[in-house]
Amino acid sequence: TYVVTDNCIRCKYTDCVEVCPVDCFYEGENFLVIHPDECIDCGVCEPECPAEAIKPDTEPGLDKWLKINADFSTQWPNITKKKDPLPEAEEMDGIEGKYEKYFS
Ligand code: SF4
Ligand code: F3S
Repeated sequence: TYVVTDNCIRCKYTDCVEVCPVDCFYEGENFLVIHPDECIDCGVCEPECPAEAIKPDTEPGLDKWLKINADFSTQWPNITKKKDPLPEAEEMDGIEGKYEKYFS
């Protein structure tokens, strides 16, 4: 599966949802996640994200993000249409450790 990772937080550009052939993105207030059981590993969303937040879970160190994607994708609503990024997207893009900073 592919996973949405830290840099989506407080950016949420949503370009990713337009290209997913199986509509497996789910939307929280501050970031999106991918449902790991629905993702077919096509990889087309990865280059679409302006924040480079989407990664294959085969990359090392993504265990935490796999769990976050798995957990929230069962709680959040599906999103299939692109919308405006969050107002703070540009200034938040590239800030490290957003999950720790804002959600713990
Ligand atoms: Fe959707 Fe393909 Fe991205 Fe998985 S890898 S979330 S199926 S676009
Ligand atoms: Fe997030 Fe990138 Fe999609 S910032 S909403 S994963 S396009």
